[in-house]
Amino acid sequence: MRSVVHTRRGDPAEVLDVREEAGRPHPGAGEVLVRLLVRPVHPGDLVAVEGGLPGLPDQESKPLIPGVEGMGVVESTGAGVRAPRPGERVAVFPAPGTWAEYVVVPAERAVPVPDEVGDDTAALMLVNPLTLLMLHRAVEQALDGHDGPVVQTAAGSSVGRLVAARADRQGLRLVNLVRSAAGTRALRELFPAQPVISTSDADWREQVRRATGGEGARAVLDCVGGSLTRDLAALLADGGTLIGYGRLGSGGTALDDLPFVNRGLTIRGVTIWHWTDRTTGQRAEDVAFAVDLARTSPELLEVAARYDLADVRAAVEHARRPGKSGTVLLTSPSEAGGTR
Ligand SMILES: NC(=O)c1ccc[n+]([C@@H]2O[C@H](COP(=O)([O-])OP(=O)(O)OC[C@H]3O[C@@H](n4cnc5c(N)ncnc54)[C@H](OP(=O)(O)O)[C@@H]3O)[C@@H](O)[C@H]2O)c1
Repeated sequence: MRSVVHTRRGDPAEVLDVREEAGRPHPGAGEVLVRLLVRPVHPGDLVAVEGGLPGLPDQESKPLIPGVEGMGVVESTGAGVRAPRPGERVAVFPAPGTWAEYVVVPAERAVPVPDEVGDDTAALMLVNPLTLLMLHRAVEQALDGHDGPVVQTAAGSSVGRLVAARADRQGLRLVNLVRSAAGTRALRELFPAQPVISTSDADWREQVRRATGGEGARAVLDCVGGSLTRDLAALLADGGTLIGYGRLGSGGTALDDLPFVNRGLTIRGVTIWHWTDRTTGQRAEDVAFAVDLARTSPELLEVAARYDLADVRAAVEHARRPGKSGTVLLTSPSEAGGTR
């Protein structure tokens, strides 16, 4: 089995290697073995390799396989598994170790892929749409019945575009922040009804204040963090909520530098890892939403490029490239020769 591994945390371009080993894992009771065809390179996968987020466990010298999501075909099932069946196409999440040719997951984490959903779309079907739902719930709580305004950072990201598309559909007043003029143009083309502002403009803070009607944002959805956090807190109305869900930026802001006491601000984090805390019924509803999004709006699950698993370093370089649009995929050939 081919897999991408790292034995220490660090720059993915340096610490990731491709390994070939004899044999493949076996599914235990209640598990399925999936032969993976496509998996995404998410920013969170790279952060996990780098070890750049507080709260990650130390890596011992044991090799780790990155990746948490992917799609493939069920190869075999363990005792007691009635569905999915061998030969069925499935998307998997949470499935630690998807940057390999095979992964074993509990059967309930293997979601059947409808015939009309292509392999690449299926590989992107779970993490970002489920993140969208978690962000949506956090925003609803923060808005407490109001329709905005909400500011989001890195609005041209794959998740940011899902947020913008939902805002259009639901009449949410959303102000989008990007970091370049090119990013502004690209997003305005996709969402002409929404304000898009670049933090590369000297007066971007003033532009946001105008776009939020002078009242300030009731919520900020932020995946940049770092030194931008202080500016974002200043854009909130009193009583507003800063919702952090990523850390693309550099630098830092000390908690003590934020006026959260005097201005009654709330700071909260959202992570897909807490999605598994939802009840079985809630998770089933969320997955049905994600599958429906993949069926009806595959353009919202855009692919930036495809690389063979062996070219993981080139894939990582592409995934980090400024101005990239969509998500980079890692592929392995199907027996039939190529993916759908
Ligand atoms: N909390 C969770 O559970 C969860 C789940 C999914 C995703 N996320 C987070 O959501 C974020 C977006 O993920 P994605 O997959 O949608 O990303 P993506 O498609 O790879 O897009 C990355 C975007 O971030 C922008 N960006 C990169 N570095 C930046 C910086 N220093 N300052 C401002 N913008 C920057 C890029 O802008 P340019 O176009 O200008 O290059 C690009 O638009 C990531 O932080 C990811 O970790 C979190």
